Amino acid sequence: MPASPPASVPDFLYGTAWKEDRTPTLTELALRMGFRGIDTANQRRHYFEGGVGQGLAAACSAGVVARSDVFLQTKFTSQPGQDHRLPYDPAADLSTQVAQSMASSLEHLGTDHVDSYVLHGPASGDGWTDADAEVWAAMGKERDAGRTRYLGVSNVSLRHLEQMVDAGAEVPTFVQNRCFARLGWDREVRAFCRDRKIVYQGFSLLTANPEVLRHRLVTGLAARGQTTPTQVVFRFAQVIGMLPLTGTSDAAHMKQDLASHTLTLSADEVRAIESLVG
Ligand SMILES: NC(=O)c1ccc[n+]([C@@H]2O[C@H](COP(=O)([O-])OP(=O)(O)OC[C@H]3O[C@@H](n4cnc5c(N)ncnc54)[C@H](OP(=O)(O)O)[C@@H]3O)[C@@H](O)[C@H]2O)c1
Repeated sequence: MPASPPASVPDFLYGTAWKEDRTPTLTELALRMGFRGIDTANQRRHYFEGGVGQGLAAACSAGVVARSDVFLQTKFTSQPGQDHRLPYDPAADLSTQVAQSMASSLEHLGTDHVDSYVLHGPASGDGWTDADAEVWAAMGKERDAGRTRYLGVSNVSLRHLEQMVDAGAEVPTFVQNRCFARLGWDREVRAFCRDRKIVYQGFSLLTANPEVLRHRLVTGLAARGQTTPTQVVFRFAQVIGMLPLTGTSDAAHMKQDLASHTLTLSADEVRAIESLVG
């Protein structure tokens, strides 16, 4: 089981991928708009983690938030997921790479700890490998040393998770996956998480599911609640126990996304959305 269930996780995470030079401004804006959870990665190919640190520092200096108000999550990305801008020595062993990547993340983010440290993806799509076990153990040491409060894994299948548990590995506190409605919104992995009190974080809830956003049921619920299909999807995600991510770059969309939690959906409506396309 996770070391202890997280008590202070917000109900939405702001994702900082693909924002390049706009990362500092958008991170600060997200905090100003009310987000209290930020997701990034020490993977320069898709994220500008140093820019997240700049945005957080600006928000802290302006008195918008204190560091302790913000749930800060970053990731360890192994070499195949990186470009040439590596946050570690590629010749070092995996445990050393984890320690170097974490040290670099803390420097980028201007903090002495993150709240969640996520393994960006297992080494193989087929299952949990010895390399994953080494990285995961090294991440556990970072947690034990106080440099992260919790650990998570991303881009995992049920098979990965089952093999992880069978190998005696510590159960993650978070699982972060791309969530396809046509796969029952990642039904199998969510069920695994629910049984073990793991918090499931869903990304690409909008971009992976355009058919849901245009579906009559969803557009009808949106019209009834004088809200938008995107808000229906995010609220649905929260009601079924998911922690959703949004990567919007638009201030009005930030506001809308955060306001999703005010929407009411009945149990029947939730069930209908859950089985809409898969
Ligand atoms: N672990 C991983 O491997 C992994 C992979 C991918 C992503 N992530 C994380 O998840 C975060 C989110 O990524 P994502 O794939 O879910 O989203 P995304 O690629 O950032 O895209 C969100 C899309 O939804 C639109 N949107 C958001 N709110 C909206 C609203 N209220 N109305 C209309 N459109 C809206 C945005 O457009 P506007 O900008 O115009 O609002 C944008 O086009 C990333 O930033 C990253 O932190 C993790």
